[in-house]
Amino acid sequence: MWCSQLETKVGIIGAGPAGLLLSHLLHLNGIDSILLEKKSREEVEETVRAGVLEQGAIKLLNETGLGSRMMKYGHLHHGIEIQYNAQRFLLNFEELIGKKIMVYPQHEVLKDLIAARMEANGKIIFQANVTSLKDIDSPKPKIEFEVDGEKQELICDFIAGCDGYHGPSRRALPKELLREIEHVYPFGWLGILAEAPISNEVLIYAYHERGFALISTRSPEIQRYYIQVNPNDQLSQWPDERIWSELHARVDLNGWTVQEGPIIQKDIVKMRSFVCETMQYGRLFLAGDAAHIVPPTGAKGMNLAMGDAQVLAIGLQHYYTTGNEQILNKYEKIRLESIWRAQRFSRLMTDLLHHNNKKTSFEQKIQFAELNYVTTSVTGATTIAENYTDISVNLPAELQKNLTAIKS
Ligand code: FAD
Ligand code: DHB
Repeated sequence: MWCSQLETKVGIIGAGPAGLLLSHLLHLNGIDSILLEKKSREEVEETVRAGVLEQGAIKLLNETGLGSRMMKYGHLHHGIEIQYNAQRFLLNFEELIGKKIMVYPQHEVLKDLIAARMEANGKIIFQANVTSLKDIDSPKPKIEFEVDGEKQELICDFIAGCDGYHGPSRRALPKELLREIEHVYPFGWLGILAEAPISNEVLIYAYHERGFALISTRSPEIQRYYIQVNPNDQLSQWPDERIWSELHARVDLNGWTVQEGPIIQKDIVKMRSFVCETMQYGRLFLAGDAAHIVPPTGAKGMNLAMGDAQVLAIGLQHYYTTGNEQILNKYEKIRLESIWRAQRFSRLMTDLLHHNNKKTSFEQKIQFAELNYVTTSVTGATTIAENYTDISVNLPAELQKNLTAIKS
């Protein structure tokens, strides 16, 4: 017996970039949705994760009325630096291909999306824990969830499973139809936020025999740094002094030094590539990390989540205006192309920049030749530029004409 029943057109699970952007795009097209999120609004707005937006994501946010804080507080970067063997090389994306990237934290994107949804009286239920999905192959699928221990049910036309890697949506797919592919890397990333001035004008991706390090930023006062660690390490093994000493050892160069300050946040993530190629079944569509995970070295996860939301929104908009499921039926095929390209690039960047002491000397020599190629050949650098700046949020030509429909 259900205490209460709600009804909407699109039931969305998860207030990450995929779910929130989808609800916003649907709203711009007058399509009603209800979003269920198990965390509180404060938790969603404070969780520190990604930091880099591709061209397509920047454009999409600007064109759908979400770009003003990003353009004010985000940092446009003209390229990245790659460091190895005590040398640093600038890959100037702007000069190579005329494109830039935006460093703007994921939780700020989420704040902008939540504010836009609130302003439009959008329906987001926080602290709503989804427990199961029912009748997903029927025209009226249902989402069962709990708020304050009270069971509730949401009846809809479609379910968008935007609930991340551990959410319940993927598990609702019939097991015999699942096409899942996974690759686990022997690396983890320890990420910190430090109250320190900016270390460098652009991001630094550094290969070192002690392990990879990444210098990124959040604001002029707060910096985001990562170091490669053993994936099974615990934070207790990494007191602040050890982190600083590793960062200095891996990235400091010719008088240039990583800027230090009090560490205000630390986390360790394991690295994997994962694709659930079954992204749609019946009336359930998976988007974002629910369907795919990339290792963070390519900075693709948030961008892919937004790319999924865009195509799903176009498919739903087409369905609600024409009654035709043609685009929706192609969602999986369209997105898998970008997803596999992003997987390829993320793996390439991971192999290029991490130290793996299991590699043979032949493999290590090839890694150095690869580093040499992308940092000294214009063609080599251009392939990095092209993939780093703009592969996750691209629409196939056949959908370009539908794009205008989802803009504000
Ligand atoms: P999530 O952001 O995971 O959102 C899913 C939501 O679903 C969550 O809020 C969760 O609480 C909710 N949920 C789960 N289960 C339930 C349930 N039962 N009921 C209700 N709600 C539920 N990507 C980039 O593009 N660029 C980067 O620079 C980058 N760097 C990264 C660095 C790190 C250290 C990490 C960890 C990730 C990074 N990523 C990056 C990846 C990026 O953060 C993710 O890919 C992105 O968050 C995926 O968005 P999503 O909307 O699919 O899922
Ligand atoms: C950040 C994270 C990444 O995974 C990456 O490749 C670049 C930057 C960041 O959090 O700033």
